[in-house]
Amino acid sequence: MRVRSFTTIILFVAAAWAQSGPQQTPANPTSPQYVGSAVCKTCHPDVWASFYKNPHYKSIASGTDRPEQTGCEGCHGPGKAHVEARGGKATIIAFSELAPKSILNNCLNCHAKDVNRAEIRRSEHTQNDVVCTSCHSIHRSVSTKALLAKKQADLCYNCHGPVRAQFNMPSKHRVNEGVMTCTDCHNPHGTPAPTWRMSARPRMVDQALANEEPCLKCHTDKRGPFLFEHAAVRVDGCESCHFPHGSTNARLLKRPVLFTICLECHNGAEGFGRTGSGIPTQSSSHNMADPRYRNCTMCHVRIHGSNADPQFFR
Ligand code: HEC
Ligand code: HEC
Ligand code: HEC
Ligand code: HEC
Ligand code: HEC
Ligand code: HEC
Ligand code: HEC
Ligand code: HEC
Ligand code: HEC
Ligand code: HEC
Repeated sequence: MRVRSFTTIILFVAAAWAQSGPQQTPANPTSPQYVGSAVCKTCHPDVWASFYKNPHYKSIASGTDRPEQTGCEGCHGPGKAHVEARGGKATIIAFSELAPKSILNNCLNCHAKDVNRAEIRRSEHTQNDVVCTSCHSIHRSVSTKALLAKKQADLCYNCHGPVRAQFNMPSKHRVNEGVMTCTDCHNPHGTPAPTWRMSARPRMVDQALANEEPCLKCHTDKRGPFLFEHAAVRVDGCESCHFPHGSTNARLLKRPVLFTICLECHNGAEGFGRTGSGIPTQSSSHNMADPRYRNCTMCHVRIHGSNADPQFFR
């Protein structure tokens, strides 16, 4: 008996420490600190009223999860002290008081399989204190799917204003029209190092199935593998010639005059060419004074790669 109450005291102290400490430590499952979600209903009817629609309601409905994984207390921690004090922010895990890192850890307690821990920790978002609750709203989401605080594009534009204008340019992907979403190409939770572009400037651009650029999920005809690959496509990536969001130039191209893109690499500058980094210069037959030659893809039609011709004529 004495041993038992002594243990209870330790548990109580440990739980109190867990609440005040910067990080939540999982409490003992047999701890009496958990009171169950029904208790919260009396004082937080607004939160409770819509909660049955929330995916997090599943644990309440099933009733088979451990108390520290169930309902309100799965995120807000044990509620006994809070209920006894008849409320207050200091007696419970109040997200309004938490540092970004603690919010991240709280959610990752359960979501480490949906959201890869290693990737989210080194993502641009986390590094800039943009964490789960900057994008997700548990109690006031626009939709119960994915619990986003706003419709996806609007959510992102809140912080990435200039990108909205890019998707309104004459040549564009139709994100503002609702045909595509940012997450068709990006993973806001962070991504592994990309396999293209020497892993440089990943920009949280997600990888498609076979570690490819996400573009190939939709533009499958550009996937190859081709007998004759254009290194610019395969190694450098689609962004070496296209803007991914929008462009004032046709076909999302980076420059208004096509050949200036080609000549960024095929310029025979010092160090280039077969003897340099391996980029061939155009042969002397290419007379740049002749307008016919400036429209490079008129002859080099299969610019994304060819199965028939090493110079991409067909
Ligand atoms: C998945 C984690 C999670 C669960 C489960 C959860 N909450 Fe919350 N709660 C949050 C977060 C995060 C906030 C901060 C505001 C936000 O992002 O919505 C919050 C905010 C609150 C607030 C502050 C007022 C407000 O509306 O923002 C109250 C009160 C609250 N929760 C009560 C509850 C109750 C009661 C339950 C059970 C019915 C519950 N919570 C279940 C994560 C959760
Ligand atoms: C007896 C009434 C009562 C009960 C029962 C109760 N709360 Fe509260 N709770 C309050 C009051 C009052 C506040 C307001 C604190 C403030 O705004 O300063 C509060 C605040 C909170 C907050 C902090 C909100 C914020 O601003 O971040 C959370 C989270 C919360 N309650 C969750 C719960 C959960 C989970 C339960 C059930 C385990 C619960 N409450 C049960 C009265 C209660
Ligand atoms: C920068 C915004 C942002 C941040 C930060 C963020 N998310 Fe997300 N999350 C999203 C978007 C957007 C989706 C995709 C919604 C869709 O598919 O419509 C999503 C989807 C999800 C999903 C659904 C499954 C999936 O992977 O598609 C879960 C679970 C999730 N997020 C949890 C989290 C957790 C946990 C954190 C913090 C560790 C977090 N998110 C941080 C924006 C964000
Ligand atoms: C106690 C465990 C637990 C905690 C803590 C938790 N979640 Fe969840 N979450 C779940 C479960 C379980 C689901 C339902 C998954 C399903 O539907 O199969 C879920 C669903 C979600 C979804 C919807 C996924 C979808 O596919 O639509 C989002 C978004 C999400 N959680 C975000 C969060 C955020 C943000 C936090 C931190 C504030 C958080 N969760 C904390 C267990 C948890
Ligand atoms: C068609 C695929 C695609 C879609 C859809 C897309 N992006 Fe991008 N985004 C990219 C690629 C690829 C890059 C990297 C470009 C580079 O580094 O040259 C990028 C870069 C970015 C950057 C960093 C560079 C910059 O311009 O500031 C931000 C921020 C960004 N995207 C936000 C968004 C948002 C917000 C949305 C949705 C409204 C979105 N993106 C939709 C493919 C996409
Ligand atoms: C709360 C503000 C906020 C929200 C919401 C937000 N972001 Fe960000 N995002 C940032 C910050 C801050 C950075 C890092 C600094 C920068 O590059 O602007 C960043 C960086 C990025 C980058 C990488 C840029 C680079 O230089 O590598 C991409 C891509 C991006 N965000 C896409 C998105 C998408 C897609 C969404 C919506 C699902 C979103 N963001 C929602 C604030 C936000
Ligand atoms: C979710 C599918 C999807 C993804 C991912 C995607 N695209 Fe597209 N793309 C489209 C569709 C659909 C069109 C047709 C134009 C439209 O929507 O109006 C298009 C059009 C284009 C065009 C031609 C535009 C024109 O004016 O004819 C280019 C170039 C392009 N995409 C490049 C890319 C690049 C580069 C990426 C990766 C950064 C990418 N796409 C990712 C679906 C996608
Ligand atoms: C070396 C520069 C270059 C690279 C790299 C490149 N493209 Fe292109 N792309 C072009 C040019 C030039 C055109 C316009 C062709 C024309 O109008 O004759 C084009 C046109 C397109 C079009 C519209 C016409 C069509 O053929 O369907 C799509 C879609 C496209 N590219 C997708 C991609 C994707 C996806 C990638 C990455 C896998 C990529 N491009 C990489 C130069 C490039
Ligand atoms: C990002 C740099 C880059 C850009 C931009 C680029 N290329 Fe290339 N190109 C290369 C490299 C690298 C090779 C491969 C050389 C090798 O295989 O040894 C190549 C190969 C070629 C070849 C085949 C040469 C041969 O004999 O193997 C042709 C033709 C070609 N490019 C045309 C173009 C045209 C036309 C454009 C503009 C639409 C263009 N390239 C844009 C880098 C680039
Ligand atoms: C009128 C058709 C035509 C046009 C337009 C054209 N080319 Fe070519 N290109 C050729 C032919 C034919 C060859 C192969 C024979 C040769 O080397 O002259 C070739 C070969 C090449 C090679 C490979 C040279 C080598 O050493 O393997 C490159 C690189 C190249 N072109 C780039 C370009 C660029 C960049 C443009 C646009 C400024 C362009 N071409 C426009 C017909 C054309």
